[in-house]
Amino acid sequence: MKVLGVNALFHDPAAALVVDGETVAAAEEERFSRRKHGKRPVPFSAWEVPELAARWCLDEAGLDVTDLDAVAYSYDPALARPAEELGLDDPWDHLRQTYARRAPGFLASALPGLDPAAVRFVPHHVAHAASAGLASPHSDDTDVLVLDGRGESASHLAGTYDRGRLEVLRTQELPHSLGLLYESVTEHLGFLRSSDEYKVMALASYGRPRFLDELRHAVRTTGDGGFRTDPIDWQSLVKRRGADETWTSDHADLAASVQHRLEEVLLELLFWLHERTGRRALTLAGGVALNCVANTRLLADGPYDDLWVQPAAGDAGTALGAALHVAGTGGDETSPMPGADLGRGWSDDELAAWLTTARVPFTRPADVAEEVARCLADDGVVAWFQGRSEYGPRALGHRSLLAHPGHERNLERLNDVKGREQFRPVAPMVLADRAAAIFGRGPLPSPYMLFVHDVATGWRERIPAVVHVDGTARVQTVDAAEKPLLARMLTAFERRTGLPVVVNTSLNTAGRPMVDSPRDALECFGSAPVDLLALGPFVVRRAGWLA
Ligand SMILES: [Fe+2]
Repeated sequence: MKVLGVNALFHDPAAALVVDGETVAAAEEERFSRRKHGKRPVPFSAWEVPELAARWCLDEAGLDVTDLDAVAYSYDPALARPAEELGLDDPWDHLRQTYARRAPGFLASALPGLDPAAVRFVPHHVAHAASAGLASPHSDDTDVLVLDGRGESASHLAGTYDRGRLEVLRTQELPHSLGLLYESVTEHLGFLRSSDEYKVMALASYGRPRFLDELRHAVRTTGDGGFRTDPIDWQSLVKRRGADETWTSDHADLAASVQHRLEEVLLELLFWLHERTGRRALTLAGGVALNCVANTRLLADGPYDDLWVQPAAGDAGTALGAALHVAGTGGDETSPMPGADLGRGWSDDELAAWLTTARVPFTRPADVAEEVARCLADDGVVAWFQGRSEYGPRALGHRSLLAHPGHERNLERLNDVKGREQFRPVAPMVLADRAAAIFGRGPLPSPYMLFVHDVATGWRERIPAVVHVDGTARVQTVDAAEKPLLARMLTAFERRTGLPVVVNTSLNTAGRPMVDSPRDALECFGSAPVDLLALGPFVVRRAGWLA
């Protein structure tokens, strides 16, 4: 079967293509439209479909829209109920439902030639579940837990996959939602709701969970696999922070309290699920699964031996999950996703043509990995553009900004390049076979940056730029067999500096989506204080650029 998956309704619109059970392409609309998160997550924009990403998926596979057997849409309006019945304060939600019902028509006008009857509605949390269970290497035998803000009428799904078939064991009805709880504290702390939740997680490590009693009272499991989240008057705990106000220890303490309680409740949900199935592996998806601090605790303190998290755990990942689900229930044997580099890529000739058109002086060194390692060792900042772009929010060595981890000020330097808050950490990438000597507690290997690890005491002073205030780091391990170019660069950097670690953060400037195309890379290089751009095998130097 040829199945196009589409996520459109809430946030992070995306498209994915699954052909005969194999994931061929997946990308977020923001990488094409250059509008962060694709659109604002409001009911008025719910009709928009990810048409640029969808068309690219078809082009990438050389398919015409009429070749598709199905379009899988990651929301089923038949399962929805009026917002007031669900206890949600969302007066325009009925617009969402109308747009969802009419999605086949919107898709047919975005993709001329598409038969609207080919569109299948996949329940939102089933799509999330498939993005974890079926995309993971464990689809024969794994539990799955989905937690997000909301789907049609629930905020959670606990289930289990047996030979690729999902059995749902429990869902939690709205308005109870751990995702919406985290979103509401995000807003109270002066950040952007449904996109800045990771900032709350970063802020939490600066605080003490001194409001834990209040949180434990309002947020609790019910003993039957579900949970309650009673409304919390945040203002009575800590004064609301305006977006431009500096944060105080009170704000950090509130963030720490919510983070801590979230971890406790997740652990209880894990034990409930594990007790029913006794499986050894768990897969996670839904926006809550991007909380890498919680993920590490779930593996360390929970009942599972193995924890796999979908790298596009937010709603973008439901495009892939919906497609895998429709392919699997249609009789195809689905395969695990091959990696997170499922987006656009360019040939060497195409990259050279981009550089020539831009009249940028460039060279083709004998080995770009060696050139980049030398620049990094000299404390340069490098824009690294290699292969296909990443699906999901993390840069994993395809569209990355790299720096020397040994200089503490590089954290500030990179946060300045990206125009973001100074409390936000940057992460290390490390050679997989060297990781265990430097990073503990979190799982290794960790190829998708979805867990935090403790940095060994002897190493904290050696790589200060990547050590967060609590002594942890969000590691990406690089396997030489899977990512030979990246591994060669890390090896060359270690030879020069003694450090098998490089700072890695996403390649973008403030408020913009991650760089995707060569044009985006050149625009980013042209406007940010980056010393070297490694575009495929080619190198552009700041000095050369100015000359
Ligand atoms: Fe979701």
